Amino acid sequence: MSEIGSLLQEFAHCSALLQQFRPYWQLVPFAWQQLPWQNPALEQKLLSLSEQDLDAIDKNPALQQQHFGEFFGCVFRLNHYLTTAVTGQTRFAQCPSELKPVPFWLANGISGRKLAQIDAFARQLPASTLPMLEWCAGKGHLGRLLAWQFNRPVTSIEWQQPLCEAGEQLARQFQLPQRFVHADVLSPHGSAVLAPQQRVLALHACGQLHISLLQQAVQAGCQQLHLAPCCYHLIADEQYQPLSTVAQQQDLALSQHDLKLAVQGQVTAGARVEKLRHTEVHWRLSYQALRAELTGDQRYRPLASVSKQGFSGDFADFCHWAASQHQLDVPANTDWARYLAAGAAQALLVRRIELVRHLFRRPLELWLVLDRALYLQQQGYQVALTAFCDYQVTPRNFLLSAIRDILPH
Ligand SMILES: C[S@@+](CC[C@H](N)C(=O)[O-])C[C@H]1O[C@@H](n2cnc3c(N)ncnc32)[C@H](O)[C@@H]1O
Repeated sequence: MSEIGSLLQEFAHCSALLQQFRPYWQLVPFAWQQLPWQNPALEQKLLSLSEQDLDAIDKNPALQQQHFGEFFGCVFRLNHYLTTAVTGQTRFAQCPSELKPVPFWLANGISGRKLAQIDAFARQLPASTLPMLEWCAGKGHLGRLLAWQFNRPVTSIEWQQPLCEAGEQLARQFQLPQRFVHADVLSPHGSAVLAPQQRVLALHACGQLHISLLQQAVQAGCQQLHLAPCCYHLIADEQYQPLSTVAQQQDLALSQHDLKLAVQGQVTAGARVEKLRHTEVHWRLSYQALRAELTGDQRYRPLASVSKQGFSGDFADFCHWAASQHQLDVPANTDWARYLAAGAAQALLVRRIELVRHLFRRPLELWLVLDRALYLQQQGYQVALTAFCDYQVTPRNFLLSAIRDILPH
C-alpha cells in the first residue's frame, strides 16, 4: 500500500487549490442566467463547445485536460495523480495478503463490478489474525469472501432484516464463520459491536454512517480500520463539520449541495440513466421558467428530489406536481413548448457551468478523505490512503487504512 505524499502536505495543497478556485465550483449552477465568471477566454472556450463536446469532455479526463489545462493547470496535476490505482510499497509493517482465487460457487450472486471491488479491497488488507467487523454490510458479500479467504470470524452489521437473512443463509450454506447483527449502526445497540481487538471494514458506507464509524471506532479503540467512503453528502447536518483540527482551521463551509459534487463522477451510469438525467435537468429548468413567469420571481427555488422514473412521463404532469410543491396553480392554457424551449437553453448553460465545476470533484473528494485521514492520525493511528481499484471499477475508489498499536490497559 502506498501513501499519496504526506497526508498533511497533500491536504494543504488540496485546500489551497480549492480555496483559490472557489468561485468555479462552490456555486449552484441552476441559479445562474449567464456564465458566472468574468473570464473572457474561458467564456469563449465554453461557448465554442457543442453539446456532443460537452458530453465527451465531461467523461474523459484527457479531454478535460486538453480543453481546460491552460485555465486550471494545477487541478490536472492533482487529478492525473488520482484517477489511476496507486500501487507500491506498504507503509505498514505487514504486507498485503496473498489471496486465493475465489471459486465460482462463492461468487455466485455478486455482480461482476462488486466482485472486482471486493477483490481489489481485499488485496490491500495487511495480513492479520484479528476478527473482522463489516460495517453496513448489505448481504455481507465482502465479509463472506473474507471469512472464506482468511478463515477468520466476521461479524456483519446491517439494518435491513432481509439482507441480514439472505447473508446468514449464504454463510450457513458455505459453513463460513460469519454472523449478522441486525441493527442501526447509529444506535447504541449498533455501536456496541465495536471492540479494540478488531479489524473494522467498510466498503461504501455512506456519509453519516462512516463518519459515525470513525468517531465510534476511535472511542472504542479499534485496532484496525479499512474504509472506502461514499455519498459524502448524506450527513445529518446542513453544513459539513470537518473532523480533523487541520480541516476545521481551513474549513470550506461546505453545504450538502457542495458535498454532492464529490460524487458526481458518473462512470457507471448507462445510456438510459444518462438520458433521464438530462431530461430531469431540462424539465426542472423548464418548470423554473414557468414559475418565474407566474410569480415574477426570477430566483431559482429548489424542488424535492424525485425518482428518475418521474422523468419518463409527461412534462405537464411534472409541472403540476412541481407547482403544487410551491403552492401554485398552473393555467389550463399553458404553452408547454415555450417553457421547454426556455428550459433547454438554460440546461445548456448549466452543462457548460457543470463542465467546469466537475473539474473540481476529485480534489474535493480528496479534501474530504484527507480530513478523515488526518482525524485518525490525530487520534494516534498510522494512516495510509490509496486508490484501491481503478476509477472505472468504482469512482469511489479511495481506501483509508488506519492501524494503531494495542493501547496499554
Ligand atoms: C451502499 S450500501 C453498501 C453495502 C455493502 N457494503 C457493499 O459494498 O455492497 C450501504 C448499506 O448500508 C446499510 N445501512 C444504511 N443505513 C444503515 C444504518 N443506519 N445502520 C446499518 N446499516 C445501514 C444499507 O441498508 C446498505 O445495505
